[in-house]
Amino acid sequence: MVLDLFSNLEEIGRLIGNTPILRLSRVVSSKSNVASIYLKLEYMNPGGSHKDRISYYMLKDAIESGKLREGGCVVEVSSGNTALSLAWMCVRLGLKAVFIAEADISPVKMALLRLLGVEVVKVDVSGIGDVDPRFLRARELEAKFNGLFINQFSNEANFRAHYETTAREIVDQLNGRVDAFVMGVGTGGTIAGVGKYLKEKLGRDVLVVGVVPKGSSIIHGKPVGGEYIDGLAKNVIPELFLKYRGYIDRVVEVSEGDSVGMVKMLALKEGLFVGPSTGAAVFEALKVAEELGSGRNVVTIAADSLVRYPYLL
Ligand SMILES: Cc1ncc(COP(=O)(O)O)c(C=O)c1O
Repeated sequence: MVLDLFSNLEEIGRLIGNTPILRLSRVVSSKSNVASIYLKLEYMNPGGSHKDRISYYMLKDAIESGKLREGGCVVEVSSGNTALSLAWMCVRLGLKAVFIAEADISPVKMALLRLLGVEVVKVDVSGIGDVDPRFLRARELEAKFNGLFINQFSNEANFRAHYETTAREIVDQLNGRVDAFVMGVGTGGTIAGVGKYLKEKLGRDVLVVGVVPKGSSIIHGKPVGGEYIDGLAKNVIPELFLKYRGYIDRVVEVSEGDSVGMVKMLALKEGLFVGPSTGAAVFEALKVAEELGSGRNVVTIAADSLVRYPYLL
């Protein structure tokens, strides 16, 4: 049985990553002095987002260290994508999944989680104070089910997954010609992992830019009732983000309207179905491309697909 858990884990690992990267040619300004923008299509992972990478890394760590055993229970706080990635893996590993989601989780994600047999606990975070109620609930449920709260917000395996896989793939795919990386910040795992690797491998002057919704605590230091872009940090300042802050050159706010506008533009002009956090990242990547000028390469990530957010259409 124990062998099963490890061989199932190995099988999952073989399905993840090596996602394609695409040069955006039609949304980029027609001015000749603009950098190229490359979009790594992370929604091509089997669970539909970049969170497959971290879910696999976090589960592997927990299983190898003996914190998670055959028939165990995984508890997590997630706006949906990590929940979905962990959920399909838990099905294949025979683990129970109990997840805490914000009350405004996408209905599509909610339906998919139910299909995968997940117990979803919705928590209202609108009046959030110093302590995020989702984390308190996670600790309660961890104790109730004798489970493991995997906590992507502070789990080093989240950072490591992107440092060891996403970042290396980007550098290989562009033969090391990366001048800037732009990414929406949720837990901060992607920007931290990719940012650190790029600066170590290619030099400190690779520009690393984080994107958050307008009014995010990351910019304002405390919750100010900001806008909502699915997957991006609104009311929390994640531990991983703080720990690796030194690898991030700047963080900018993008409005919900601009992110959805870019989602529509990417469909119309590039034939791509991307989620709102990708819209926000590409919106900012276009500005960075103008700033850097021609002959340079800006990379960003399509975290998930528009198919998860039909209500945006
Ligand atoms: C759709 C989407 N985009 C971007 C992010 C941000 O990724 P990270 O948590 O690595 O900062 C997330 C995280 O949940 C997400 O779900």
